[in-house]
Amino acid sequence: MTDRNIPADMAYKLVHGATYASDELHDIYRWLRANNPLGVAEAEGFDPFWVVTKHADILEISRNNSLYPSAVRGTTLTSQSGEARARAITGTPHLVRSLVQMDEPDHMKYRLLTQAWFMPANVRKREEDIRALAKQAADNFAALPGKCDFVKDVALHYPLRVVMNILGVPEEDFGRMLRLTQELFGASDPDTERFKAALSDEQFAQLLIGVVQDFTDYFEQIANDRRANPRDDLATLLANAEIDGAPLPPFERTGYFTIIATAGHDTTSSSTAAAMWALATQPGLLERVRADLTLVPALIEEAIRWATPVKTFMRSAAQDTELRGRQIKEGDWLMLCYASGNRDEEVFASSDTFDIARTPNRQLAFGNGAHLCLGQHLARMEMRILFEELLPRLRSVRLDGEPRYVESFFVSGLKTLPIAFELN
Ligand code: HEM
Repeated sequence: MTDRNIPADMAYKLVHGATYASDELHDIYRWLRANNPLGVAEAEGFDPFWVVTKHADILEISRNNSLYPSAVRGTTLTSQSGEARARAITGTPHLVRSLVQMDEPDHMKYRLLTQAWFMPANVRKREEDIRALAKQAADNFAALPGKCDFVKDVALHYPLRVVMNILGVPEEDFGRMLRLTQELFGASDPDTERFKAALSDEQFAQLLIGVVQDFTDYFEQIANDRRANPRDDLATLLANAEIDGAPLPPFERTGYFTIIATAGHDTTSSSTAAAMWALATQPGLLERVRADLTLVPALIEEAIRWATPVKTFMRSAAQDTELRGRQIKEGDWLMLCYASGNRDEEVFASSDTFDIARTPNRQLAFGNGAHLCLGQHLARMEMRILFEELLPRLRSVRLDGEPRYVESFFVSGLKTLPIAFELN
């Protein structure tokens, strides 16, 4: 058996966002899958963690939530000082308490509040609303002068509008939502990171408490309104939700609003941008899909595999166990590397090729098990509708500059996608 530890330079790179913005990430993952598929990363400033790179192991861990819980340790990779800051604020390793940070029995109780809403039959009822937003996005795109940054001009705004629509947040609060989301989860921007790193623990805590309070006040205002004036939106559902016969505690209610407001935009926009990147770079793909729009779901599924916008989530071990011949100890921390699982050669032939003909496409970008993404059907549907609206208008598209990627080990994808295009 190989040495337990992965090479120090790789461990260093896996905890630095810049790696996730470069092709080197996949070189590292490829090496790990072949040479140390379940090894330990020791990087300065971080507790050691297992790096899980094989598709089968990611599924195994995700499907066994009692052995590999989410609540005990950080669910996103956090430095030791970051964790100390979170503990000082909330008394737990987490800054918010949403579905992602919960284990049973709470997790299922909370998930059931909205699970039926997110099922395909219900999500399809929003198709008309979402198509109107997609048409608007396609109109805006068509009004551009044959060149644009597809991320900033289309991919970023459309999913945010969809989320605001299902949540029931009015259009005029769009900017505020975007800002609040970025402030809370904007670890992707190196400038923001540097700014945060320079703050004392006390200053940082104050900043976060301010953002969380702002979110709480805002959502409470919406919740109060929906209790008085119920509507057909998720805000009404959350405002009136009860757990064990009592209203949701404020911290958990904010957490719920927050995850629904934030989980669905950067992720969906990265996948949307990846689909456009493929159309712009793969000869014949645009013509093929445009001629047969029933291929759009396959395009989207492959774009989601390709982008794997959520790069990692963390789990911990509830007891000593064995996996792939390695002894995992109670309390150990494990990083699920979804983007590696989605390039695993054992599951995907020519895994580094963008190929819409994969059937089945066993991509695991939505996770699996108890925490399987609630928004997966919505994400697929909104992307499908957008491309159904865009493609018939698009005669040609090509890259018009170097694409750039977000630097983050959590949610990352295309940051800019300069394209030149012609319309029909
Ligand atoms: C392509 C787009 C998306 C990707 C790749 C994605 C990815 C993920 C992943 C990997 C998880 C699992 C977390 C874990 O195992 O700890 C997750 C959970 C979740 N996602 Fe998504 N997501 C996407 C879109 C959305 C959308 C559109 C929404 C809703 C508006 C959403 C809401 C959620 C929620 C509520 C959870 C928590 C589920 C739970 O813990 O029970 N996601 N997502």
